[in-house]
Order: sequence, then C-alpha cells, then structure tokens
Amino acid sequence: MSQPPMKLLFSRTRIAEQVERLAAEISRDYPDREILLVGVLKGSFLFFADLVRSITSPAVIDFVRLASYGSDTQSSGIVEMRKDLELPIKGRDVIIVEDIIDSGYTLESLYHRLLLREPRTLRVCTLIDKRARREVAIEADYVGISMDDGFIVGYGLDYDERYRNLPDIYLVKSA
Ligand code: IMP
Ligand code: MG
Repeated sequence: MSQPPMKLLFSRTRIAEQVERLAAEISRDYPDREILLVGVLKGSFLFFADLVRSITSPAVIDFVRLASYGSDTQSSGIVEMRKDLELPIKGRDVIIVEDIIDSGYTLESLYHRLLLREPRTLRVCTLIDKRARREVAIEADYVGISMDDGFIVGYGLDYDERYRNLPDIYLVKSA
C-alpha cells in the first residue's frame, strides 16, 4: 500500500485553537438551554470529542452515520443514513457537528431529514468549510477553518478509510 504524497496543512495547535473558539461561541449562544449535539460519523469523531469537552452549556450527545455514494474524493449527491439518532429531537435545540462541508449534499440531506422532526432550533457546526466547492445553498452557523480546493486527511478525515488517526490535517497531493 503506497502512501500518496502529503503536506501538513493545519497543525494540531491551529485545530485546537479553532475548536476552543467554536466551543466558546456555542457556549455563549446557549447559556441555559440544554443542547443536543449530533456527531456525524465517522469523520467528526475526534472534532466532536474535543468540541464537547470544551462546551460549558448543558449538553447531551447522539450520532448519525451517513454515507454518500461516489468516488473517493467526490460526493455523488446520493446520501444514505446508515445509523439514525437514538434520541428524539422534537422541541430541542440541536447542533449538527460535521467534519467538513464540501459540495454540501451530505449536510443538506441530513439537515432536511432532521428539520422534519421539528426541533426547536437546528444549527450546524463544521470544522472545515470548503466554500468554493459548494453545489447546494447551505451554510454552517459555526465554521472552524475555511479553505479553497484540495483533498485533506487526518483528525478524523479519511482517504479510503485511512489516515483518520493522524493528529494534524494534511493536504493529499494528486500525483
Ligand atoms: P459533501 O456531501 O460533498 O459536502 O461531502 C461531505 C463528506 O465528504 C464529508 O462528510 C467527508 O466525509 C467527505 N469529504 C469531503 N471533502 C473531503 C476531504 O477533503 N477529505 C476527506 N473527506 C472529505
Ligand atoms: Mg469520508
């Protein structure tokens, strides 16, 4: 298994700074009401774990598992929910926690599915926003780091299921 060439893009220090900032913003926006944080598996697992530990608002957590068909680096727009929430969200303050928004298809699909369950509020927090690549009109309310084009791995993000365990984020260079 040969490894593609990689370049360090976002260090663990920079990531941690942004995670702290996002947690502070969320804690400030939800001082009293209990929030329900929805982690989108698998990519958000490290971000989610770091974020929830720094949020001071009362919070409960749940997870969904989504899979979008397509190639390794390009979403097809067909999104399957492989694992649903376990908690009801009707009347609750819900925040979806995503690793990355690229075309936006994955988030749009999840957002509309959850909206049908009538949460009191529904917001989105993403670690990485590839805004220039958006194909549907959807924006996150909380954004850690914005970037242009390029495929990245590490800190939960994979290339064909590999490199999720890297503590920093790397740009995968196309050969
Ligand atoms: P979207 O539906 O095109 O917005 O794609 C979102 C999903 O594609 C993310 O949840 C990731 O699983 C994956 N993805 C998009 N860009 C990257 C990347 O640069 N590295 C790793 N995974 C990515
Ligand atoms: Mg993926």
